[in-house]
Amino acid sequence: MEPDMILVTGGAGFIGANFVLDWLAAADEAVVNLDALTYAGNMENLARLQGDARHVFVHGDICDRALVDRLLAEHRPRAILHFAAESHVDRSIHGPAAFVRTNVEGTFTLLEAARAYWNTLDAAGQAAFRFLHVSTDEVYGSLGPEDPPFAETKAYEPNSPYSASKAASDHLVRAWHHTYGLPVLTTNCSNNYGPYQFPEKLIPLVIANALAGKPLPIYGDGMNVRDWLYVGDHCAAIREVLARGRLGETYNVGGWNEMPNIDIVRTICALLDELRPDPAGPHARLISYVQDRPGHDRRYAIDARKIERELGWRPAETFASGIRKTVAWYLTNQDWVAHVQSGAYRDWIAANYAGREVGA
Ligand code: NAD
Ligand code: TYD
Repeated sequence: MEPDMILVTGGAGFIGANFVLDWLAAADEAVVNLDALTYAGNMENLARLQGDARHVFVHGDICDRALVDRLLAEHRPRAILHFAAESHVDRSIHGPAAFVRTNVEGTFTLLEAARAYWNTLDAAGQAAFRFLHVSTDEVYGSLGPEDPPFAETKAYEPNSPYSASKAASDHLVRAWHHTYGLPVLTTNCSNNYGPYQFPEKLIPLVIANALAGKPLPIYGDGMNVRDWLYVGDHCAAIREVLARGRLGETYNVGGWNEMPNIDIVRTICALLDELRPDPAGPHARLISYVQDRPGHDRRYAIDARKIERELGWRPAETFASGIRKTVAWYLTNQDWVAHVQSGAYRDWIAANYAGREVGA
């Protein structure tokens, strides 16, 4: 029998790369990594795996059906872990087409290829196969201050082009299980943070700007709430769901860690004051309120009791321990930040923040 292996999509991005690195550190099962290397995909994230025969990187698009068919036939994975997506809400507001293409059409293409491949497997292979779809809590919409956190039964109410495209992909995954019997699992996770996150997202953007003495842009009143989870804990949850999740089920993954954005930014400033004091003064002096994001969801919070109860998963990091690790990682990996802040990155920052200043 051939050794087991898994196919990961989007494994050069933030969460996918963390997943692949953790996976190969913990187990000896090979990974085929399919990634289109968009602005968010970065081979430097996988530098540690250079020369490691257990990691097969394929530069390609999940919308390319012939390529996906070929990879499945050649490598015969026992599971597909689908991370690839356009993932940034602000970009989805500026240009939604790429989100519909990758998140909806790309997921559809993978599901169809997976279904064709799964139909060629023998009974044991079919029973063992898994299609694990990595999604977001943003599909559930926005909570009021007193609303209970999102349970898996919460109605979908996506508000941004990003969350709408992820919601569409979740529905396709669900339907491929109910209609065709494809053995699927879906995870809906809250905001992640940690090493290798592209500095367009709040936490790495604030760290990078603070180190450069640039303004720290806070959208609106800074009181929007997110439920932050350390990326390594998300990766551990995905491994548990893959191993023992019930077929066709969805699992919400979160850190029981709701915080308003302004508190996140102040925490980062305080850590930088401790670890890398700036002679010009406390980093919080750089906080700058800017015009709000259109349609900005007010609050996300995850009820993670199902995954805790059924699979025994719990986050290992507190926010205090996770954010300290994260700030330390960015401090020791400033070359990584400098490399991703290419010309294209500078164009994005100019487009997203131009004309939004409303003062400190
Ligand atoms: P990311 O933007 O950092 O990485 C996405 C990766 O997908 C990149 O490597 C990119 O090159 C690749 N990709 C994009 N389009 C592709 C295509 N058409 N074909 C092949 N590869 C393509 O995203 P992330 O933050 O790592 O998110 C990974 C997944 O987790 C996404 O599905 C996202 O919706 C979900 N998620 C993210 C968060 C978060 O806080 N970042 C939270 C919950 C869920
Ligand atoms: P982000 O990291 O883009 O994740 P998401 O929108 O998917 O939750 O943003 C996290 C929160 O931080 C969100 O409420 C928007 C806010 N934010 C800012 O206040 N300023 C910024 O420059 C960015 C990028 C985000």
